[in-house]
Order: sequence, then structure tokens, then C-alpha cells
Amino acid sequence: MAQHILIADDDAAIRTVVSQAMMRAGFEVRATSNIATLWRWVTSGEGDLIVTDVLMPDGNIFDSMAKMRNSRPDLPIVVMSAQNTFMTAVKAAEKGAYDYVPKPFDLNDLVGIVRRALAEPKNDLKRQGQDDGGETMPLVGRSPAMQDIYRTLARMMQTDLTVTITGESGTGKELVARALHDYGRRKKGPFVAINMAAIPRELIESELFGHEKGAFTGAQSRSTGRFEQAEGGTLFLDEIGDMPMEAQTRLLRVLQQGEYTTVGGRTPIASDVRIVAATNKDLRQLISRGLFREDLFYRLNVVPLRLPPLRERLEDLPDLAQHFFAAAAKEGLPRKSFTSGALEALRHYSWPGNVRELENLVRRLCALYPQDEITTELVESELANDANQFGLDADHGDGPVDLTQATERYLSDYFASFANDLPPPGLHARILKEVEYPLIAAALAATRGNQVKAADLLGLNRNTLRKKIRDLDISIVRSIR
Ligand SMILES: Nc1ncnc2c1ncn2[C@@H]1O[C@H](COP(=O)(O)OP(=O)(O)OP(=O)(O)O)[C@@H](O)[C@H]1O
Ligand SMILES: [Mg+2]
Repeated sequence: MAQHILIADDDAAIRTVVSQAMMRAGFEVRATSNIATLWRWVTSGEGDLIVTDVLMPDGNIFDSMAKMRNSRPDLPIVVMSAQNTFMTAVKAAEKGAYDYVPKPFDLNDLVGIVRRALAEPKNDLKRQGQDDGGETMPLVGRSPAMQDIYRTLARMMQTDLTVTITGESGTGKELVARALHDYGRRKKGPFVAINMAAIPRELIESELFGHEKGAFTGAQSRSTGRFEQAEGGTLFLDEIGDMPMEAQTRLLRVLQQGEYTTVGGRTPIASDVRIVAATNKDLRQLISRGLFREDLFYRLNVVPLRLPPLRERLEDLPDLAQHFFAAAAKEGLPRKSFTSGALEALRHYSWPGNVRELENLVRRLCALYPQDEITTELVESELANDANQFGLDADHGDGPVDLTQATERYLSDYFASFANDLPPPGLHARILKEVEYPLIAAALAATRGNQVKAADLLGLNRNTLRKKIRDLDISIVRSIR
């Protein structure tokens, strides 16, 4: 017997095309323009699956979904909506929708989703809570690229799967990690973040796993690690590409065995932590350079989430700009907006700093200029400053960056990341090491791993080079080029 699809949408055209597509796929259909009728069908046991719009004349489907799910837990609900914001995707997942399709959608995709839902074992249709959190939208943007992100996020929120977020600097990796936690099933637990790039390498293991008294020089008392602090919640491993090898090995063990030991400790401690990792580096490249464990990569990359750079979703500029203008106004700065010409100028910029750069630009414009309307000229002169700062100056567009300037910029960010504190001691050695590593690796690559030639090229004694290779843990690849 053919399976029955219940369709609800107040738009007659959509009811028709969806009905036809379902019939072509071999289903029987019933369609309605309101929730009351749908509810009547549900309670009288009709239908094998619902395809429904969100806003209908007699209400919002999200307000009825809990009772529908209660009355017919086995009835999958597929939500389609033109309100394609982050919150719609989240709501749909929270209310227990099987899936969510933003309008306009491809009918074949919809049929595929329906088939998949009907084929799924019934007890896999998870029961969801009916939590009505605050309505402030953490993620702004409705571009197709962001729609994909929202759908993946909404699905991931109902699981504890490990997610690795990649994307250029300023694309919102940390924001997404927080959203995964705040709207996920661990939201009542802690969200703990640790930035691998901001902690001296030799302290990372102890930061992550804690240490026992006397585990190393300076360990004067027992201390808890981030894993312990994040128990029952989410641990956000930021800049995971900067994690030292030994710490990677330890992390891998936790992911494999669900337990860890503190530095200097012996008793295994069970861990119940959801891991979300982020990086703006290419982990595969790090693997091939011997800097990242491949097995760890596969453990972390269970669900890869790539955040698109802003230049790939310029249609989000107006929404984002408005969001940041509103945020500035909330902080007491005068409320402003862009002229349409100014918005157009924003579209012609490459946004190397992504959303963060836009946020800073808006903030600066609000603080610096008295005009209510930000014109094309103002935007262009401010963007010229940004381009300079990112080394995008027209004169030396793709040329090599000035190392001194790059270092200055790096250090000023680095110091800023400690706010009023000073970074941990040993800065000179740490920075020189960071410069030395790529220098020696490049010399080795250029000489195809020939240490005699590399030593010559660098002007170093051969034994000194060998020692540095060992100390810096550089793996020598002889076949480069
Ligand atoms: N989709 C978005 N909607 C609203 N704000 C956003 C969005 N994406 C990013 N932002 C804002 O842009 C800024 C940068 O985001 P975030 O810190 O998450 O980026 P990141 O990818 O972690 O960058 P980095 O690699 O430099 O650490 C933050 O202030 C964040 O709130
Ligand atoms: Mg970040």
C-alpha cells in the first residue's frame, strides 16, 4: 500500500508542486492550508509523514509540534520555511522535526529526504525537549552557504559527535562552537575554551589534563585541567593545529578510551566531554609535514564544518552590517546605517579579516563619524586603511609580507590576547623558535632534505643544524619537489 504524505502550507502553489512531486514519487497525498486540519489528521491516525510550512494563518507549526510528536511519536515531520534563519533551523531540530528545508528548495531533494525519513527505523526518530530559549540570534546571515551550516548545526546539536570547524580567521568559528553548545543538549553544562596558540607548548598538557603536585618544576600543588572543568559540557579546542605532538597523543587516547590521566598522575579519570575543535590551518597539510597526527585528525573530523569566508557570501553583508550597527547602538553609540552605494562598495572588497573585519569597521564608523548615513566615500577611505593593515595594498598585492611588520602585528595581537596580564615568561625563546621552525623547514625543503647543503645555505654548522632539527621536531621529507 502506498504511503501517505500529509502536506500543510498556506501557499496553494507550494501545496500543488509538493503534492505533484510526492505523487510522482509514488506516494499518496493530502494537503491543507492550516494547522487545525493537519492536527485533526494526526489525531485520527492518518498519514505516514508530514511536510509542513512554519507560519500558517492559524498559527506557527512550532507551537503545535510538541503535541503532534506526543500524540504520534513515530510520525516524521519535515519542515519547510522561507524564514530561513539560524533560529528556524534550531527550532525545527529542537521541536523534533526530522529535517528542515529552506525555501526555495529542490523538489528532488525534498523527495529524497521524505524517502529517507520513511525508511528510517521508527525508534530512531528522537524525542526532543520543548525548550523555548531566548530569541536572540547568535548567527546572522541567510546566504545559501550559511543555510547549509545551520542545517548541519541543528543536526549536530542533538548529538555529542565531535565537530571540527575550519575557516579563515574571523569567519565565526568560536561563535559557531558556542552556538553548538548553547543550543545543544549539553547547554546546562559548562562551555570551556582553550586556545592552543596562546599557551606555551610545554604547559598545554597540564592545562588540558591537570597535573599532580610535583609533576614538574613549578607544579607546587595539584591543579585541575580543562577536561575536568568541562565535565558534562563542551570543551572547545581552539587553534587545534597548534597542538604539540605529545599533547596530541594524549588527546587521541582520551578520544579513544574516554579517560585520561593527569600529568604525573596514574589513576585514569573517566571523561564525559563533548569536543569541538577549530582551526584556520589546513590540517591535511600539517599531517603531510609531520606536524599533526593523522589518526587524531580522523577522530576529530567526525563532522567537518567549513565556515565560508565572507567574500563567498556577500549577500550576507546587509544583514551582518545591520546586526553590528544595532549592537553598537546597544552599547550607546549613535545608530547609523549604510547608504545603498556604501553597501555596494562593501561588496567590492575582499574581506581578508572576514566578519570580524566588518564588525570592527562598523564599530569604527559609529565611533568616528557624526553622520547618520555612512556614504560610499567614507566606506572607501576606511576600507583602504583595512586593506593596508591586511597587507593588501594594491602596490604589493601578492608580494611577500614584510617579516618585521608581520611580527609586529603578531605580537600586538598576542599581547592584546592577554588583556591586562603579561604573557607567560620565555617569550624571546618562543618567538625565535616559531621563526626558526619555518626557516629551517624551508631550507631543508629547498635542498631536498640534504642537511649538508641546508647547513651551508643557512650558514650554520652542520651539528648545530642537526641539533635544531631534533629540538624543533622537524620531520625531514627528502622527496619534496
Ligand atoms: N554569522 C555571524 N553572525 C554574527 N556575528 C558573527 C558571525 N560570524 C562571526 N561573527 C562575529 O565576528 C567576530 C569573529 O568571530 P569568531 O571570533 O567566532 O571568529 P573565528 O573564526 O574564531 O576567528 P579566528 O580564527 O581569528 O579565531 C566575533 O565578534 C563574532 O561574534
Ligand atoms: Mg577564534
